[in-house]
Amino acid sequence: MLTIRELQNIVSRNISNIDFDKEPLGLYEPISYTMKTGGKRIRPALCLAGCNIFSDDVTPAYPIASAFEIFHNFTLLHDDIMDNSPIRRNKETVHIKWNSNTAILSGDAMMIKSYELLSDLSPELLKVILPLFNKTALQVCEGQQYDMDFENKDDVSEAEYLNMIKLKTSVLIAASLKAGAVCGGASEYDADLLYEFGLNTGLAFQLKDDLLDVYGNTALFGKKTGNDIITGKKTFLLINALQISDNKTYMILKDTVKSNEIRNEDKIKIVTQIYDKLQIKELTLNKIKEFHIKALQSLKAVSVDEARKSELYEFVSKLEEREK
Ligand code: IPE
Ligand code: IPE
Ligand code: MG
Ligand code: MG
Ligand code: MG
Repeated sequence: MLTIRELQNIVSRNISNIDFDKEPLGLYEPISYTMKTGGKRIRPALCLAGCNIFSDDVTPAYPIASAFEIFHNFTLLHDDIMDNSPIRRNKETVHIKWNSNTAILSGDAMMIKSYELLSDLSPELLKVILPLFNKTALQVCEGQQYDMDFENKDDVSEAEYLNMIKLKTSVLIAASLKAGAVCGGASEYDADLLYEFGLNTGLAFQLKDDLLDVYGNTALFGKKTGNDIITGKKTFLLINALQISDNKTYMILKDTVKSNEIRNEDKIKIVTQIYDKLQIKELTLNKIKEFHIKALQSLKAVSVDEARKSELYEFVSKLEEREK
């Protein structure tokens, strides 16, 4: 068995071996730029780890792991346009460094590249992995649409929010794990358990992302904090703050988020102060813990020796504590 660190090294090597130094530079340079800025690479690491708990040979999962990571990076290029985000991984986002048209087209090419990687799979694997990948990719689009729709919807419930983040974030993490498991020869039952594990890990992951968007250290997080407040995102924090605030605070929150007059920096200050007063950070951390525990239950039920799961246990615990 390999450690997560070793699996991450494999992932880095495989991704750096994919050649994006091509012409036209206008198309490929932003792709190299994106793929070279790193990121945590959690999806491919989880894919290989998902494979490794069932099989000592993780090589069949290599192209799938890379495909998931390139697909994820593609979604970020488009997401940063949609969210008007200037900074990612402590660097200018592609639509700022170049322009939106470039981010759209380079993103498109990345999506195609991810499918190209999958097309080399054996017919047996392809038959299972391709439908999973297709379904997941569409779900991500659905989640992203809900995310945008909710910017202009006042009464988003926690259930609607959870469904939205399941689609935009969790399914990709879940599918990475499941695809890895399938490559490792897992039974359908076990592969589905890893998918469940990934879904709850993904929910916790997005909640933490929402939290870091408000309370994160900008240099560590690598993104501009407060962006969700400025763009009126219905995050776990905002939904719960609206839910538990008294009438007066409710109105202040709502008006502040919507206002065209209040300066962005002031918006962030006002909303964060309300979150502080309502102890939204603690509430969010508790919910993250809840999803984390749920995730662990699925992993525990997978029918292989607990010793083979230890790297995954440790990895998701670290994810919960992450600051970036
Ligand atoms: C960012 O994903 C988008 C979300 C789902 C929150 P990551 O936090 O995995 O981004 P990188 O790849 O590590 O930069
Ligand atoms: C991103 O959610 C989900 C996808 C990219 C599909 P966010 O919009 O919260 O991610 P960040 O914060 O920009 O990384
Ligand atoms: Mg977004
Ligand atoms: Mg975003
Ligand atoms: Mg975010």
